[in-house]
This record gives sequence, structure tokens and C-alpha cells, in this order.
Amino acid sequence: MTLSGGLTYLAIPGPSVMPERVLRAMHRAAPNIYYGELPELVPTLTARLRKVARTEAHVAIYIANGHGAWEAAIANVLSPGDVVLVPATGRFAHGWADIARMMGVNCEILDFGKRDTIDLDAVRERLAEDDGRIKAVLAVQTDTSTGVRNDIKALRDTMDEVGHDALLMIDCMASLGCDRFEMDAWGVDVMITGSQKGLMTPPGLGFVFFSDKADRARDTAKCVTHYWDWRPRVDPPMFYRYFDGTAPTHHLYGLDEALKMIGEEGLENVWARHATLARAVWAAFDHWGSVGPLEVNMTNPALRSHSVTALRAGSPKGTALRQWCETQAGLTLGIGLGMADDDSDEWDHFFRLGHMGHVNAQMVLGALATIEAGLKAVDMEHAPGGIEKAAAVIAEATRP
Ligand SMILES: Cc1ncc(COP(=O)(O)O)c(C=O)c1O
Repeated sequence: MTLSGGLTYLAIPGPSVMPERVLRAMHRAAPNIYYGELPELVPTLTARLRKVARTEAHVAIYIANGHGAWEAAIANVLSPGDVVLVPATGRFAHGWADIARMMGVNCEILDFGKRDTIDLDAVRERLAEDDGRIKAVLAVQTDTSTGVRNDIKALRDTMDEVGHDALLMIDCMASLGCDRFEMDAWGVDVMITGSQKGLMTPPGLGFVFFSDKADRARDTAKCVTHYWDWRPRVDPPMFYRYFDGTAPTHHLYGLDEALKMIGEEGLENVWARHATLARAVWAAFDHWGSVGPLEVNMTNPALRSHSVTALRAGSPKGTALRQWCETQAGLTLGIGLGMADDDSDEWDHFFRLGHMGHVNAQMVLGALATIEAGLKAVDMEHAPGGIEKAAAVIAEATRP
């Protein structure tokens, strides 16, 4: 017997749960890609995307995942031989640097490990001694592997304190539409994100937001290619140039609906919902982990992402719990990523819970109750009652 029949719940940190409204909006005949409703829709999408990113800057849309957006961002501002500084707090900063390196860019990594935020003193020190060689600082707001949430405004302030002119380039793949992000107010020059997490649309769209200052770097960037060039994608005279070819028709309809949903709820409310649900998740895990080895990877709640929580089980029971949840209860948790070598025994110690995008209190409480049942079923040591702690957070936040 298994208890997994019925509605399943994909609680991995992206792709996130796609709202029925988004899926229904995509379920339609292909539109004309030369004139009519689709070409008229795209400028409204870019206007609404800018609101979600809190920016007046430009945005280019690519048929790409996050890796494509990473490459697009590098291509438009850098040349082979340029130097970038990469403060790393998990797997994804290294992933972005790998791409830059392959394009001939020299990446200086400041590695702050897997359980900490960016050390701003170290960044300040490195930038202060730089003689203008560092062209950009590449950082990730929420590293999806560690669950850290870096303070991007503080990073900007640090660059300003030493008067460094480098571009500030931020990966918001796992944070846009989940955690507060203020592109203009925080002085971000380039921001990348994708469709499949906080934007609740299937994987396949990559977005690159860029300031006028970043666009000036495009004048001399030698990594740029026809497909990744961001300029023709902003307000082009011919519709096909938005996408350098055929538009991602159905993704655009899905995105339209997702942006409508964000607009209806209000961005501040979307952020507040994520923050409250995240606190419920932490209340449960922190309580369960008060006995035994289970713990939230980021010990300091102030540094935790509101969209994903990375967990350490302290034994191979991490994988056992994940498998139990999926096969016995219909709840899919995320694998641990970048925490241990894939072929090591330690790999089984880690797992993650995604709580991003189209997620509400009953989904999170259901997932947590399922996890508590799983902890018992796989016999992982824990303090019983985490679900009550989570329920208390939800009740307190919503008391009339
Ligand atoms: C923070 C972050 N950056 C980049 C990526 C890469 O995105 P993709 O897998 O869509 O290429 C991911 C994927 O999860 C991510 O979480």
C-alpha cells in the first residue's frame, strides 16, 4: 500500500507549482507571431516585469533557462581577459563563474562556504586594493543550494564606500517574486532571473534586466553574440527581434497570467506571504532539530531565504525521508545540491524544501505534517510537535 494517490505536491525549489490559471492560459491554439494580440502583449509583459524587479531599467527576454540568462548577462558587458569578483555562498555563484570563465573572463572567487552570507569586509578589502581591473561583481541573492539570502543593498553600499566603479550583477533566479528585491533603489546594474520559480511559469524563459550604465558596457563588450545581444530585444522595430526569432508563444501567455496574479495580490503581499510561510517552515524544522542531528543549513534566521530551505539530516536518512515523502505521501522534496560530492555517502544527508511562488498556508502545513510523519516513519531522531510550532506562526500572522 501507498498513501501517495491523490493530488501530488512538487515542493522542490523550482520548477515550482504552476497555477492552474497559468496552465489554462497556455492551453490554446498558437497565435499569429507577425501581428495582433501576441505582439501587442509583449510590451505589457516587460512593463510588468520591471514592476516586479522594482526598476525603470531595460529588460531582455530570452528563450533560455537560468544558465542562458547567466550567459546573456556576461556576453553583453564583458570581454575575454576581463576580471570579475565573485563572492560565493553556495553552488550557484560557482555555476555563474564557470560560464564566465568559459567565455574567457577571469573570475576571482571569494568563497564564504556553504553556511554563511557574503563577508562584506572581505569584499571591501579586495575592492579597495583593486586598481580598476575588476569590471563586475557577480553575486546571488538567494543561493538555492544553501538557502542563504544575501543582503544585496549592503553589497552595493560596500562597493560605494570604496568608490569602486564595477558593475553590480545579481542572480535573482530563486528570489524574484519571493524575497524583496529593489533593483533601482539598491543600485543593481544587471539582474538575471527565470520563469520557473517565483514567476510561476514553466521553465524556458530567461530574463536579463540592465541599467543604462550596463548598456554602456555593451558598447565595448567583445563576448556579445547575435543571439545574446540584449539591445535588439528592447523595443525592437520588428516583433521577431524581441526573441531573435520565433517567440515563445505559450510561455508568454503563461507569464501574462502569472504577472496578473502577482499584480492582483500585490508585490508587497507576495513578499509578506513568502516571509510568513518561511517562518512557519523554520519553526517546524528548528523545533524538530532541537533533539538530534536534523538542522536548517543556515542557522541564523536573518540570513535565511524566504523561498527555499536547505536541510541537513546528519545521516543518510535525509534521502530516506525524501523518498518516503514522495513514494508514500505524494510530496516531492528537493535533493541536496552542492553540499557533498554526488558519489559520496554524505550526499544522502541533505535535502531541501521549496516554498516559492504559488504556495499557501495549507500547502506548507500539509507538507510539514507529511514531513513529521516521515520523520517518524524513517525513524529520524527529532523532537515531536514541529507542526504545532508552524501552525502557531500561521495563526499568529493571520489573527483577525
Ligand atoms: C540561484 C540560481 N541560479 C541559477 C540557476 C540556474 O537555472 P537553470 O537551472 O534554469 O539553468 C538556478 C537553478 O536552480 C538557481 O537556483
